[in-house]
Amino acid sequence: MIIKASQASDVPSSEITSESDYLNRRRFLGASAAGAVVLFGRAAPLGARPQELEPTPEDLATGYNNFYEFGLDKSDPARHAHALRTRPWTIKVDGLCNKPADYQLEDFVQPSAVEDRTYRFRCVEAWSMVVPWRGFPLADVIKRAEPAASAKYVAFETLWDPEQMPERRWRPRIGWPYREGLRLDEAMHPLALLATGMYGKALPNQNGAPLRLIVPWKYGFKSIKSIVRMTFTETEPPTTWATQTPNEYGFYANVNPDVSHPRWSQARERPLGKGILARRVPTRFLNGYEEEVGSLYEDMDLKKFF
Ligand code: MTE
Repeated sequence: MIIKASQASDVPSSEITSESDYLNRRRFLGASAAGAVVLFGRAAPLGARPQELEPTPEDLATGYNNFYEFGLDKSDPARHAHALRTRPWTIKVDGLCNKPADYQLEDFVQPSAVEDRTYRFRCVEAWSMVVPWRGFPLADVIKRAEPAASAKYVAFETLWDPEQMPERRWRPRIGWPYREGLRLDEAMHPLALLATGMYGKALPNQNGAPLRLIVPWKYGFKSIKSIVRMTFTETEPPTTWATQTPNEYGFYANVNPDVSHPRWSQARERPLGKGILARRVPTRFLNGYEEEVGSLYEDMDLKKFF
């Protein structure tokens, strides 16, 4: 969400429509806060696509992060997130469901359901990665909670503890905790993952340990980190970026090359890790997962519900 001079090599210059946009975005943020082919199970219809998914070098995926609770710079989360205590970790499941509960992480994650999946990951800032995640279907925990018939959405919250999260400049300017949400049918989709690891290891703190969401057909800001609460609701829950800057970031945030951000195009993206001279590549509708999730949006005007 933040485009900075120090990241210019990783951010496509044409995504920043002018130097003043560049600075405005920086200033605005300062002033106001601010994947997926499953590599298994669908081998036949996906054809050669899995071979496209060469993972981004691990040091980039774990060193170039957005986790604003720990700072504005892409390198801040890796520098500061060691302060996050991820054990013990409690996840509250509440709202419109028959089985609300406070889970310890160990009871929440069922090891037998954990699997490795390599997904494309497309940030709204127009860079992308390919990340081998480890996790389990979000649908599993939703089914276990038994949502009520009236539940239409699920809201997520990140831990908010200023003692562990030192980015003090942001405190008054953004409505912490970081919040996200999905429509229940999106959340039930088999591609939606709760990740506990990446690159075959436990999730590093800067990537959202001990538990984060991965929704590979949506912009990365939907993939909320360090989750402590899931709440079933009847109405669309408020989410951090859509509340903060509603003309720029919507609730749906589906990757869509035809719907530009007000200040840059989303038609192309820069895959990280390919060198500064690497060509930007066309962005795919729903990040390339249209075959899997396109039916969720059949009757929607995605320009309106961006
Ligand atoms: N979750 C929390 N709690 N705080 C954040 O700042 N940033 C989001 C998302 N989840 C964010 C978050 C954004 S903008 C992106 S692009 C991804 O995390 C980045 O994930 P990564 O650092 O693992 O690449």
